[in-house]
Amino acid sequence: NIRKANNRADLKKLHGKPVACIIGAGSIGQLTAELLRRKGLFKTCFIDTRIKKEKRVTCSCESINSGTTYRCSKGVYPESFVKAADLIIITVKAFSVAKIIRDIAPHLNRKTPVILMVNGFGAQEELKKLTHENRLYLASTSNGATHKKYSVFEKGLGTTYVGPLKHAKETEVIRYFVKSLPSGTYTDAIYDELLRKLAVNAVINPVTAIRNCVNAEILRDPEIIKNIITEITPVLRKLGLNDSSESLQRRVETVAANTGTNYSSMQQDYYYGRLSEIDYILGILIKKAKIYGIKTPCIDNLYQKLKNM
Ligand code: PAF
Repeated sequence: NIRKANNRADLKKLHGKPVACIIGAGSIGQLTAELLRRKGLFKTCFIDTRIKKEKRVTCSCESINSGTTYRCSKGVYPESFVKAADLIIITVKAFSVAKIIRDIAPHLNRKTPVILMVNGFGAQEELKKLTHENRLYLASTSNGATHKKYSVFEKGLGTTYVGPLKHAKETEVIRYFVKSLPSGTYTDAIYDELLRKLAVNAVINPVTAIRNCVNAEILRDPEIIKNIITEITPVLRKLGLNDSSESLQRRVETVAANTGTNYSSMQQDYYYGRLSEIDYILGILIKKAKIYGIKTPCIDNLYQKLKNM
């Protein structure tokens, strides 16, 4: 029936709920799909951008908190679901955002709001090419998860912030989305949250990738946390974030503890020999530091190590 329902109206008639379409079937894409499914406010699907042909997949999610295995079916129907969506959430890697935006732009309903939930800094600019600014939102999450094909393993739920890229308002469908996520929070200061998350990723991701360890391991080395944070705090300040280095350090430690058994996305990328988001995390911080004349020997060194790995 879903296969036949090629337009928005038909899908609404079938499900009676707004349709959330998640683009990207990585850990955060699959975890977000599962969290929306649990809350039940959306009919949810995700698109695995690595699959060219339409096909239906079954995915499962294992929650470490409850120890329960959830199973759910989701369709992979790229064009029809993009057209039918009442909400699009892009969760691909930062370096894929430009391509995804080119791919979905012809199919997107002009009224559909789009949320970009990616690690790092820089890809946000690409979003402006997709649709009118008052439909565009950014999200930042400290949820941790890993996945194997269509099995996602929840490894600690944090807060997910959602806010406007520029002038968008908090509409009903955005409220539903925020309400569906554990500790979901709407904020007009979403750039502050993105920069805080950048600080977290600038420590946890490179260190766990180089040391090939889980997130909690970095807590054994407070010195490296302090060195990175001390170096990047003035860069983040120039970008508009006024947090002290102490509070950023506490934030890194909290996320590392909350997602302690998780292998970070960058550790996973290096482990499996995939392209990593290093240029959107340390790379962008080094670039900005150069512009502002700030010296960053510690992150330069980590960046070079990762580039050589
Ligand atoms: O990139 C990641 O893995 C995640 O952003 C985080 C929060 C560091 C948890 O592993």
